[in-house]
Amino acid sequence: METLLEIKDLSKSFDLHNLGKHIRAVSNVDIQIKEGEFVGITGKSGSGKSTILKCIYGTYRIQQGSIWYHSKKFGPINLAEATERELLYLRKHEIGYVSQFLNVMPRTTARQLVKQAILEMGDDHDLAEKETEKILAHFELDEELWDSYPTTFSGGEKLRLNIARAMVKKPRLLLLDEPTASLDHDSKLKVKLLIEQLMKEGTTMLGIFHDLEFMNHLCNQEYNMQNGIFSHSTSFTNS
Ligand SMILES: Nc1ncnc2c1ncn2[C@@H]1O[C@H](COP(=O)(O)OP(=O)(O)OP(=O)(O)O)[C@@H](O)[C@H]1O
Ligand SMILES: [Mg+2]
Repeated sequence: METLLEIKDLSKSFDLHNLGKHIRAVSNVDIQIKEGEFVGITGKSGSGKSTILKCIYGTYRIQQGSIWYHSKKFGPINLAEATERELLYLRKHEIGYVSQFLNVMPRTTARQLVKQAILEMGDDHDLAEKETEKILAHFELDEELWDSYPTTFSGGEKLRLNIARAMVKKPRLLLLDEPTASLDHDSKLKVKLLIEQLMKEGTTMLGIFHDLEFMNHLCNQEYNMQNGIFSHSTSFTNS
């Protein structure tokens, strides 16, 4: 299997100028993910897990290290040095991200949000509409909510919509930031089911999970974070 993502010696810190503070979020992180793998990140709150995903997605630019991603369009590309244009393309077509906290666009309905995500990839309207309804139904989002604004949704409803929007694109690489944290057991199972399905279709996953055990038989490798320091604690051989 080919390596899809290789993070080498990544460090990220924040300068809080107004407070005169320097915060080291993560240091010397190395991660290697092969095509088709499911890799889990665990670790306590504040240890830098979300920061890593944001560095990969290009939300944060890093001070040190490299993030090599094997793009379908660009070939090997160092995301740490990619241009905004390249990052935008990759977010539209190749790399998906489910954030830990949903921030939705105001005045966009649930249906529009998901449909937009599909249309970005160049599918036609009829297909996009069908796929949208299929995935909203999969996550059992009440039909009455489909044409409402998500700002008023409950936490779990927002989360399910957020996951639906990212998964419907069937990205090559999907970054998941605690996608099941605040969901009930039934909704968690639905997320897991879709993760399994996407993996069968070739999506590679990097996810932060509080309860990695729940995802256990899917997981190929686990990285554990302790205060910004990484250890590659487990390697599974189940696929
Ligand atoms: N934009 C930012 N500005 C300043 N500090 C930040 C920023 N983002 C993260 N940090 C700091 O970096 C550290 C790691 O944060 P991060 O969100 O990555 O932790 P986490 O492991 O995801 O925690 P949790 O499990 O609670 O989500 C924290 O000390 C946090 O305060
Ligand atoms: Mg986090």
